[in-house]
Amino acid sequence: MDKFVVRGGNPLLGTIRVSGAKNSALPCMAAAILTEDEVTLENIPQVRDIETERKLLASMGAEVELGYGRAQHRTTISCRNLSDPVAKYEIVKTMRASSLVLGPLLARCGVARVAMPGGCAIGGRPIDLHLKGLEKMGAVITQEHGYLEAKTPRLRGAHIVFDKITVTGTEDLLMAAVLAEGETLFENCAREPEVTDLAAMLTSMGAHIEGAGTPTIKVRGVARLHGVRHRINPDRIEAGTFLVAGAITRGDLIVANCNPAHLGAILSKLEEVGARVDILSSDSIRVRADGALKAADISTQEYPGFPTDMQAQYMALVTQAEGVSQVRENIFENRFMHVQELNRMGANISVEGRTATVRGHSHLSAAAVMCSDLRASASLVLAALVADGESILDRVYHMDRGYERIEEKLRGVGAQIRRMGNVFAPREEPGNAD
Ligand code: UD1
Repeated sequence: MDKFVVRGGNPLLGTIRVSGAKNSALPCMAAAILTEDEVTLENIPQVRDIETERKLLASMGAEVELGYGRAQHRTTISCRNLSDPVAKYEIVKTMRASSLVLGPLLARCGVARVAMPGGCAIGGRPIDLHLKGLEKMGAVITQEHGYLEAKTPRLRGAHIVFDKITVTGTEDLLMAAVLAEGETLFENCAREPEVTDLAAMLTSMGAHIEGAGTPTIKVRGVARLHGVRHRINPDRIEAGTFLVAGAITRGDLIVANCNPAHLGAILSKLEEVGARVDILSSDSIRVRADGALKAADISTQEYPGFPTDMQAQYMALVTQAEGVSQVRENIFENRFMHVQELNRMGANISVEGRTATVRGHSHLSAAAVMCSDLRASASLVLAALVADGESILDRVYHMDRGYERIEEKLRGVGAQIRRMGNVFAPREEPGNAD
C-alpha cells in the first residue's frame, strides 16, 4: 500500500498549478450518457475517481478514451451503444458519486439499475432526494438485492423542491430533466460551481436551462441532445489546499490555473488568519505568510459558504495559529476523522458534537499517521509539511482519488515529500466523501 514520506520545515516557494475539478468532471462524464454523439471533455484530472467513472461507463457499453498528455488531459466518450444500463456494486462501492448515472440513464434508456451505495466513513450519505425527485418526474423505483431499479417510458417535467441542498442530487435531477417531456422547476438547488459547469455543458449540448448557480433552476426538456467539446473548471478544493499549504509553511506561493471567483470564502478566511492574499489575474492567486497566524472560526456551509471539503485542511492551518478556533461541520455528521491523527502529531483539538475546538499554536512533531478519507489525507500532508521530522502517511490511495500527483506538485515548490509504493495499484477499499 502506498505511503507518503514527508519531512517538514520547508516554506513553499514558486508556482503550483491546479488541475481540473474532479467534482465537475464526474457529472460531466455522466452527462455523456444523454447523447448518442461523441463528447469530449478537456482539463480532466488524472485521479483515481475519473478512472473509476471510465470503468463505470465502459461497463455499460460506452466507449471511453482517457488520455493524459503533458499539455492536455482529455476524455472522449461515445455512448452510442448503451447495452447494459447498470451501475454495478463493485464500482459503486468504491465511488459513491456513481449514483450520478441514475438520472441520465433513466432519461436516455427509460431504465436504470444502480447498486445502492452503502454508508461511508463521513456519514450515512443517503440518495433519497435523488429518488424522490425522479419519482416526481414519473419514475417507478423498486429495490431488490441491493440494487435500485428505476423505470419510466419517458420522464416528465415536475415541480421539485429539495428538502435539503444536495450537490450531486441537483446534478442528477438536472440531467434527468433536460430530456424530460415539458418543464421542470427546481427549488432549493445547490449553487456550487460544479453544478454551473455541468449546466454549461448541457446547454452546449442543446439543453434549455435557466438559473444554474442560483437556488431556482428551470429546465425545458428537449427530445435529443447532441455531442459537445467542453472544458472542465479548475478544482477549487485543490486550489484551496495549495493556498493553505502556502500559508501554513510561511511560504510565498502562486497558485496558478485556478478560478479566484470560486474561492471567496476560503480567501477571506486566509486573510482573517493573517495570510496575505493577492489575486494576480483571472486565474492566479499569490499567498504569503510571514508574521504570526491568528485563530479564526469557521462553519461549513453550502456554496458560497466555507466548503466542507476544505474543513480538514483549514483545521491543520489553525493548529499553527495563536488562540482558539472553533470549526463547525454542518454538512456531514462524521467528518472529524483527521482530528485523532492531527492530535497524534501534537495538535490540541477536542470535538463535541459537530464542533471541534482547536487550541493553537501547537508544535507539531512528525509521526506515522493514517489517511481516512480524501480531504483528511490532505490535512495530514499539510500538518506534515510543518511538523518537526519525517512523517509517514499510510493509505494515500484516499488522496489519489482526488488529487493529481500531489507529491510531485508539492515537490516542485520545495516540499520534501516522496511516495513509497506503486502509483495507482488497484484498490478495493470503499470510497468516501467526495
Ligand atoms: C458533493 C461532493 C462532495 C462534497 C459535498 C458537499 C461530489 C462528487 N461530491 O457530495 O465533495 O463534500 O457535495 O459539498 O460532487 N443528503 C441527503 N439525501 C440525499 C442527498 C444528500 O440527506 O439524497 C444529505 C447528505 O447526507 C449531506 C448533505 O445532504 O448531509 C449534502 O450532501 P450532498 O450535497 O448530496 O453531497 P454529495 O453530492 O454526495
